[in-house]
Amino acid sequence: MRSANLKTYKPSHSNVQSTSKEDIYQLLLAQLNSLLDDDVDYIANTANFCAAIQQNFHFHWVGLYRVMGEELVLSAFQGPTACTRIPFGRGVCGQAWEEKKTLIVGDVHSHPNHITCSALSQSEIVVPLFDSHGNVKAVLDIDADIVNAFDTLDKDYLEECVALLAKYY
Ligand code: SME
Repeated sequence: MRSANLKTYKPSHSNVQSTSKEDIYQLLLAQLNSLLDDDVDYIANTANFCAAIQQNFHFHWVGLYRVMGEELVLSAFQGPTACTRIPFGRGVCGQAWEEKKTLIVGDVHSHPNHITCSALSQSEIVVPLFDSHGNVKAVLDIDADIVNAFDTLDKDYLEECVALLAKYY
């Protein structure tokens, strides 16, 4: 059982005193299950995916980078304009792609491989999206404007969200 821990970001539903971060992720998963659709195209699903996360948590930036050859290319996102291309292994995004695992960066200023797209970004989580053969097809990147915004609860739930999206990718 994952522990509820709402110490940083206040989701939009947090006016309800008892609502925990875990409750919001459960709601988000239910929303994604009904939003994502076999009958619509890639842009529709990825745009709604990012919007659903953003609407629930109000992160500074939520977006996807798609693997295209040897680099990641900016895809659907919510938030300020961002870097369009990231080489394999570069930045937190390229590193998550290379290492094929979720990376949590508590303070982007002390991470040597971080690429700054927004001066307001303080912490970050990057979650790879895998195809059925275990190849990385994209990464989900979320930036927060406070340090240490993400913990293992975010990692577990965001990996679940990305696995849902992977079925429609
Ligand atoms: N910070 C990322 C670059 C993408 S932006 O944050 C949207 C990185 O280090 O890969």
